[in-house]
Amino acid sequence: MKHTATYYQQQKGKRVLSMLTAYDYHTASIVDEAGIDMILVGDSLGNVILGYDNTLAVTVEDMIHHGRAVCRGAKNAFVVVDMPFMSYQTSVYDAVSNAGRIMKETNCQAVKLEGGAVYADRIRAIVDAGIPVVAHIGLTPQSFNTLGGYKVQGKTEDSARKLMEDAQAVEKAGAFAITLECVPADIAAAITQRTSALTIGIGAGNQCDAQVLVCHDMLDYSGGFTPRFVRKYASLHDTMLQAFRQYKDDCENRTFPAQENMF
Ligand code: KIV
Repeated sequence: MKHTATYYQQQKGKRVLSMLTAYDYHTASIVDEAGIDMILVGDSLGNVILGYDNTLAVTVEDMIHHGRAVCRGAKNAFVVVDMPFMSYQTSVYDAVSNAGRIMKETNCQAVKLEGGAVYADRIRAIVDAGIPVVAHIGLTPQSFNTLGGYKVQGKTEDSARKLMEDAQAVEKAGAFAITLECVPADIAAAITQRTSALTIGIGAGNQCDAQVLVCHDMLDYSGGFTPRFVRKYASLHDTMLQAFRQYKDDCENRTFPAQENMF
């Protein structure tokens, strides 16, 4: 049996956990084989898989479709599936019903939703229904229209205090983990110290209990802009481009297929 949310929360202070996003079976299998603790089926799939400009158009069906594939590939890793825009904002009922669908239809171990104190009632109701919740505060991409863009959060005293209050509210509501996105390192460290929930940082310094990156970013799949908080561990764009160009040449000059590829 896989470890449960309780196990991961109990790792707080003992070791730093690792998490990566994945959206398909093979990537999830490789992430799992590498021994990464947790996989996030992020609604970032709207950007990196479906080619949207933002995550707002992603549906519950999209999350279930990709979540299922990832869960089939993740033999050991704990899988968290994102709740997309408007699947929990509308009501407590919608939140529980969509979280339930996501868990039943993907076989994931937890769901994640964006927002702090304002969604504490949704978090409490989902947890009460038996579904572990990861909260997500700081830069919450589903709210980029009201946040005024994709900016670092918690830079002023007031907004840092608000972040701390949000972290405490979601912890009290039952979230076992809190994603901190684009938060100054010292604020993320203070939140990590003052909550019993696991903090999962992305652009939030190195004192969080866990780190997460979007797999496409760390592999440099797009070959484009890389945010400051990402480290590139591979150059997939360049490798793929070179392979596709070589294949094109080989087709054109009839060096592929060669004798060993023929019947
Ligand atoms: O959707 C996503 O990939 C995320 C990460 C950026 C944490 O929420």
